[in-house]
Amino acid sequence: MRFDQKVAVVTGGSRGIGFAIAKELIAGGATVIITGRKQDSLDAALEQLGDRARGVAGKLGQPEHDDALRRAITDEFGGIDYLVNNVGMNPVFGPLVQLDLDVARKILDTNVLGALKMSRLGYELGLRERRGAIVNVGSISGLRPSTGIGMYGVSKSALFALTRQLAVEFAPNIRVNAVAPAAIKTDFSKAMYEGREAELAAAYPAERIGVPEDVAGPVCFFLSDAAGWVTGQTLAIDGGLSLVTP
Ligand SMILES: NC(=O)c1ccc[n+]([C@@H]2O[C@H](COP(=O)([O-])OP(=O)(O)OC[C@H]3O[C@@H](n4cnc5c(N)ncnc54)[C@H](OP(=O)(O)O)[C@@H]3O)[C@@H](O)[C@H]2O)c1
Repeated sequence: MRFDQKVAVVTGGSRGIGFAIAKELIAGGATVIITGRKQDSLDAALEQLGDRARGVAGKLGQPEHDDALRRAITDEFGGIDYLVNNVGMNPVFGPLVQLDLDVARKILDTNVLGALKMSRLGYELGLRERRGAIVNVGSISGLRPSTGIGMYGVSKSALFALTRQLAVEFAPNIRVNAVAPAAIKTDFSKAMYEGREAELAAAYPAERIGVPEDVAGPVCFFLSDAAGWVTGQTLAIDGGLSLVTP
């Protein structure tokens, strides 16, 4: 897939799934602005990504960060062609009946409203004029219940609803799609797979858990012209897991 002359923003691009997406877009010719809270991780990622990578440090959704991102986009590029809403968080484990509602608000604020705010920023900054595309990174937990991470799943379900809603509101100029990965080997999921990867992998028809590159390919497809008539869709990237588990 070629993305020559295109400019993309990938939130949370300093490692994990976001980094793999940024790398694949750059390999296809795009220039990519990645975000992340820690400047040192961002710098390390930029060094690996090379000349066509830029970084804006800050926490998703914070006004100073949004302003810095807006400036970085307008000053150098005038606008963007693609947005990947990749940042997501899940700080708790346990049943919903015990969930602190302030924590629930934080999860929804980052995973849902963070993506909405970024999508509105992208809308203002060229996505509409450039007939661009957005991809939201959800989770298989947003498609069916998962033990212990209920509010995370609720937030990712809401992200899929947001994907469909924006696909209609932003049509015909901006396509909006989503991906729903199962377990992917990153820092985020380390506690889940470390020391029990083989046991976890046995549940997957693919006989392995995912790696960030497994997500980057489908995301780039959704952004590309090859998906020019695809909008509002959510694709499970799960090594077949959803076929064999309820
Ligand atoms: N890994 C999985 O098994 C899996 C499965 C399904 C879905 N997902 C989803 O995939 C997405 C990426 O996850 P990942 O596994 O790649 O995570 P990761 O390896 O922990 O990477 C997260 C990235 O986001 C940045 N980040 C985190 N919170 C941020 C915030 N509030 N503001 C700005 N940047 C932030 C991190 O940098 P800093 O720490 O420096 O901020 C880092 O660049 C998430 O939406 C997650 O829900 C992951």
